[in-house]
Amino acid sequence: MIPEITLDMVRVTEAAALFSSVFLGRGDKETVDQRAVDAMRGILDLLDMRGTVVIGEGEKDQAPMLAAGERVGKWADNDPEVLIAVDPVDGTRLVANGRSNALSVIAATEKGKIAPLPTYYVHKLAVGKELAGNLDINATPRENLRIAAAILGVKVSELTVTVLDRERNYALVEAIRNVGARIKFINDGDIAAAIATALPDGGTEIYMGIGGSPEAVLAAAALECLGGEIQVKCWLRDNSEIEKIENSEFELEKVYWTRDLIDGEEVIFSATGITDGSFLKGVRFTHNKAITDSISMRSSTRTVRRIQAYHEIAYKTVTTKSGGEVYLFNSLVGKRR
Ligand code: FBP
Repeated sequence: MIPEITLDMVRVTEAAALFSSVFLGRGDKETVDQRAVDAMRGILDLLDMRGTVVIGEGEKDQAPMLAAGERVGKWADNDPEVLIAVDPVDGTRLVANGRSNALSVIAATEKGKIAPLPTYYVHKLAVGKELAGNLDINATPRENLRIAAAILGVKVSELTVTVLDRERNYALVEAIRNVGARIKFINDGDIAAAIATALPDGGTEIYMGIGGSPEAVLAAAALECLGGEIQVKCWLRDNSEIEKIENSEFELEKVYWTRDLIDGEEVIFSATGITDGSFLKGVRFTHNKAITDSISMRSSTRTVRRIQAYHEIAYKTVTTKSGGEVYLFNSLVGKRR
């Protein structure tokens, strides 16, 4: 088991959140992402583990580090072997545009697997503990929503379904509207939306629709720790992806469940809010301090920790990959003591 690194993982997502949040609302998506990756990569290398990134920065972000296959950690002989999935910023556009709902996220597993899904997008259906095992991604939204309402003892019109606001999801939106459930649209950041279904104060019972594949795996890690569930099916962006599926261990029509996406003796998950979301506050800069809110979980005990950290800006250093230990203070724009 790897409890020793559970809290260290919080330092990883905190660092990524702190560094990227400096660029809140400045319209610079690339820098937001680069700063998060640099900080995340720097802290990862301080950890006592033999880590391998399975899901890293994807084609979308084209970041120079944290690619699949990269080794992270100290790699000492007795360190545990750990597989890692990261999304240094889920919601890069949100941070660049100063909008809510962006997180920094990491998941790790020991003696297990992380699925490198072959398609860029997947159909997703995520729910919390009460609904886990009861819905079916192959059923119609009508069937699923009726079952969900019956299990939760509410009317369908009291259910809130979260959907990523994309044209590819509009047929689904129409179907949900026809059944009469409420819809919460998100512009980006569907890891948080999937996790919210499993939290008592998450404000949504179901997350549905087509979204990014790496994000599905990261959501699976959190849902595994929370007793929730995610089901996914590959969704073809174009025909070139058929070949990718054929060259992989995956199938187009098969449903993959939480533990098909991430599994192991121990699954650990950490997320830090970059901007305000439904269950984590974003980074706040107050007088001389930066405050972060994180959530940390592990599957073997299902303990969920909420960690609020006060970082003294003048003293706070973050180890980056590119420049070693740097002061957060020095990365702030228009700094003053
Ligand atoms: P990034 O910030 O990592 O780019 O992802 C944001 C996100 O909204 C994910 O949460 C979601 O799964 C995916 O993008 C959807 O992809 P697209 O924006 O291409 O529809």
